Amino acid sequence: MCGIVGYLGDKNTKKILLDGLKELEYRGYDSAGIAVLQDGDFQSYKAVGKLLNLEEKTKDFITEKFAVGIGHTRWATHGKPTELNAHPHLGESSYVVHNGIIENYAELKKELQDDGVTFLSQTDTEVIVHQFEKNLQLTSSAFEAFEKTISELEGAYAILLVTKGESETIFFAKHGSPMLVGIDTQNDKYFASSDTPLIGHCSDVNYFDDGDYGYVTKEHIVVFDKEKQQKEPQFTKLATNKLSAQKDGYRFFMEKEIYEQSDVIADTLLGRVNDTEILFDELEDEFFNGIEEIKLCACGTSYHAALSASYLFERHSKIKTSVEIASEFRYREPIMHQDTLFVVISQSGETADTLETLKMAKNAGLKTLVICNVDNSSMVRLADASILTRAGVEKGVASTKAFATQVSIFWMLSLYLAQLRETLSREMIQEQITLLRAVPAAVKVDDTTHERIKRLSKRYLHGHGFFFIGRDIFFPLALEGALKLKEISYLHAEGYPSGEMKHGPIALADPELFTIALLPQNLLYEKTKSNVEELSARDSTICAISPITFDKADDFIQTKHHTSYMLEFFEMMVVVQLLSLEISVRLGNDVDMPRNLAKSVTVE
Ligand code: M6R
Repeated sequence: MCGIVGYLGDKNTKKILLDGLKELEYRGYDSAGIAVLQDGDFQSYKAVGKLLNLEEKTKDFITEKFAVGIGHTRWATHGKPTELNAHPHLGESSYVVHNGIIENYAELKKELQDDGVTFLSQTDTEVIVHQFEKNLQLTSSAFEAFEKTISELEGAYAILLVTKGESETIFFAKHGSPMLVGIDTQNDKYFASSDTPLIGHCSDVNYFDDGDYGYVTKEHIVVFDKEKQQKEPQFTKLATNKLSAQKDGYRFFMEKEIYEQSDVIADTLLGRVNDTEILFDELEDEFFNGIEEIKLCACGTSYHAALSASYLFERHSKIKTSVEIASEFRYREPIMHQDTLFVVISQSGETADTLETLKMAKNAGLKTLVICNVDNSSMVRLADASILTRAGVEKGVASTKAFATQVSIFWMLSLYLAQLRETLSREMIQEQITLLRAVPAAVKVDDTTHERIKRLSKRYLHGHGFFFIGRDIFFPLALEGALKLKEISYLHAEGYPSGEMKHGPIALADPELFTIALLPQNLLYEKTKSNVEELSARDSTICAISPITFDKADDFIQTKHHTSYMLEFFEMMVVVQLLSLEISVRLGNDVDMPRNLAKSVTVE
């Protein structure tokens, strides 16, 4: 996701900004830019793609005396990843960088346009700089104009702004998006949206609170709180280890990524859901014309997301859907019809088997779509259309937030198709939209639940196997739970449809067989419950995950009473992820880099 850096001082500003942006690369981005004010003049550079492109553009730009500078890496939300949409954004004589979302940008933009202001980008950010310059005319100082501007913004933001009239100042504001400032031994000031760019420059930093705003100059750091009261910055020691700083205090990237799911799903939904409909700007209106069937193809966790999607497409969009494991599909001489939309799903966009199936489908003349987390990846470049999941960079080899965003996209896509094909009424779509909007809250990790899972995990470190069981869309979730556990605990685990246990696997039941039962209250509860009872009667050790207390279970993880099975799905997804994580931690395994596995499987 987006990253911010800023610097005010006598050192090599360009290098400090570019090095800082490099430290934020792990968050993911699709374009980057810097603006530097020295000797009263601005220089600004932007580039799409990797930072190397920006470095190339700035190679002759020299900054060896006092300057103020701001920089940004952008992960596109409002508007495509183009140079015009990259930050910093320019007004008449000021530049701004911003992380977050300005919710009332459309309203502010309209007023500014009515006043004759021309906008160059499609971003929400650009309104900040124009609003600031409008306020410069109405107030007696740049600081007052900035303060007024901040008070007019709604939404979440971390902002840095520089302006020619105050050429030795950086203005800042933080509300809902992280930002910190540090000073070095020469009293130079450094800003960033997370710790890592400051490590090595500053030993002490001040983390801004929500509502903080103010400015820094050569001599001062002036901070006001949300009540407009001036306050002293509170400096704390900065970590010296970059890797641990990137983990934001979590023990593992996987844990951080589980906790991030609420934010990344909110990003996934951004601009794609309004009060009444689902929108996919990335798809042409006629994209689905002539499509009678959908075939989904993927590997691993992405395959589980595809399986989940098949339930949603058939239920909501009433379209025949089949799902294939890519490594199987590519060698079985499949029959492909041109009325089939071929959809590949991949976190990385580089998985060799999945990529190959995409090529096969293209060669057979099928329309193709990729659901992917990495823009410009091989699959995104090859497919006819792509929908980006916006999960940000996923570092843990065991995929978590990528899966969460893939399923969110599929849920939206099933409703988008339902709109097009009129298979759900407007009221039903609106109901679903309300539920979709509740997903970020449903996946927020509850401390009590996490603590409970930590304690429970010690009872699940041995045994001769795990069965994760569930019905309907909870079956792919069971598969995913089992895969997570296998990958990082090295214990044998299988996902199974709960109704299928009695057709063989129940023969394994004994106290050393651990059953993790997904028992949602809103979908086939009684049916699943009786399958779990059959296992309990044969003395399998049961860990039930459900909102409804289940007295036949040895262990019970209580989830919330939601009104929809999809919200239960997302909450239970977090529970199985945390359970695998905690078992792996207790076993002393390398959670983020499990043995024998690679993040991106580019060989078949
Ligand atoms: O990048 P992809 O989504 O195409 O990767 C597919 C699988 O290799 C991947 O999901 C793998 O199963 C993960 N390690 C799961 O945690």
